[in-house]
Amino acid sequence: MKNLKIALIGTGGRGRHCRLIHDPAQGVEIAAGADPCDDAQKVFHEYIPGAKLFSDYREMLRDGEIGAVIISTPDWMHEEMAIASLEAGKAVYLEKPMAITIGGCDRILECAMRTGSKLFIGHNMRYKPFVLKMKEIIDSGVVGELQAGWCRHFVGYGGDAYFRDWHSERRNTTGLLLQKGSHDIDVMHWLMGSYTKSVVGMGMLSVYNRCKRRSPDTPGCAVWDSSHYPPLTQSGFSPVIDVEDHNMVMMQLENGSQMCYLQCHYTPDAERNYTFIGTKGRIENYGVNNGPCEIHVWTRRGPRETPDIIYKLPAVTSSGHGGADLATLQSFVGFVRDGKKTNTSPVAARQSVAVGVLGHKSMRGGCNREDVPPLDPELVRYFDNNQVK
Ligand SMILES: NC(=O)c1ccc[n+]([C@@H]2O[C@H](COP(=O)([O-])OP(=O)(O)OC[C@H]3O[C@@H](n4cnc5c(N)ncnc54)[C@H](O)[C@@H]3O)[C@@H](O)[C@H]2O)c1
Repeated sequence: MKNLKIALIGTGGRGRHCRLIHDPAQGVEIAAGADPCDDAQKVFHEYIPGAKLFSDYREMLRDGEIGAVIISTPDWMHEEMAIASLEAGKAVYLEKPMAITIGGCDRILECAMRTGSKLFIGHNMRYKPFVLKMKEIIDSGVVGELQAGWCRHFVGYGGDAYFRDWHSERRNTTGLLLQKGSHDIDVMHWLMGSYTKSVVGMGMLSVYNRCKRRSPDTPGCAVWDSSHYPPLTQSGFSPVIDVEDHNMVMMQLENGSQMCYLQCHYTPDAERNYTFIGTKGRIENYGVNNGPCEIHVWTRRGPRETPDIIYKLPAVTSSGHGGADLATLQSFVGFVRDGKKTNTSPVAARQSVAVGVLGHKSMRGGCNREDVPPLDPELVRYFDNNQVK
């Protein structure tokens, strides 16, 4: 089995999940990590003691033994780091969102095709058991031809995770519809079997702008504390908050169907609740991650309380988004080493960013319709062909 040496760019925060794939006995080694932050380097050294450490990722890219990189840095750095890594001949696992502009995504796609370096976007929701089950049920045809898809996204931890650090500023993320919603828009595109053609958005910042802020001299830091409720009692928020805490978008898809996505960051509970409505029925999930989860299907007229099929998914004990993180990393390794097909798609990742960018543009500019610019057909062909020229 060919040994694959992987380097991590951004060893703190989300980057820690790379340890799940570190298995030198199976020929997969996290061999190096780059992060300018001393604490992030220290933590990385604790969980992968033998790996080389760098402060500058560009220096790490010069290491000829490294075959692949995982990029897990804040969103606005993705474009530059992905392009530098692809140009250096490394296979790239790039965290979602792919970039914070449509142009940024297109430049990454173009670079991947030109260099032939493999590109994978870490849309781990495509490996979550409840998403896979919903896809299987939809693909079986039991609810007919999908015409409408809705997602209500309750981000109960929004104040903790997105309004205390870099996430709170448009210049770093474009906005949270893109930052967070790119996951859901991607899942919805996948399950609806089509991409968004045009989008209309409406959103506002009306709650977290009223909370107490930290001083600009105190560094930003996300926290996870379920006692932080109700929202207006929270403090320690970013000095600059110019992203919305409530986002809504409606989308017209290329195949004629339509969908909408509603995201709120100050709910008490946390769940992604999807429903897809077809010509023969409706499907909806209850619960998402590690806990037991149900998928309800209605194929007859009757009350909502009595779906005619209930699928019960067992509780998942694996760590990392209910086992999805490891499955996503394994898929990346299978793709790089053996050319195996993946559930994810760089083109789909670009289309989810496009909805985020244009949804924000619409909501900030009079709620007008915005059309997604088409991708170069040559790029689409290349990625449809599993990145083989
Ligand atoms: N797929 C998922 O489920 C999931 C979950 C969480 C975060 N993410 C994504 O992961 C990315 C990182 O998010 P996070 O919450 O971990 O952010 P974070 O701020 O907690 O961590 C980012 C890390 O990048 C490091 N970094 C900053 N500048 C760097 C540079 N020039 N070179 C190398 N490292 C640098 C920071 O020091 C830090 O250790 C984001 O794009 C986010 O969208 C994905």
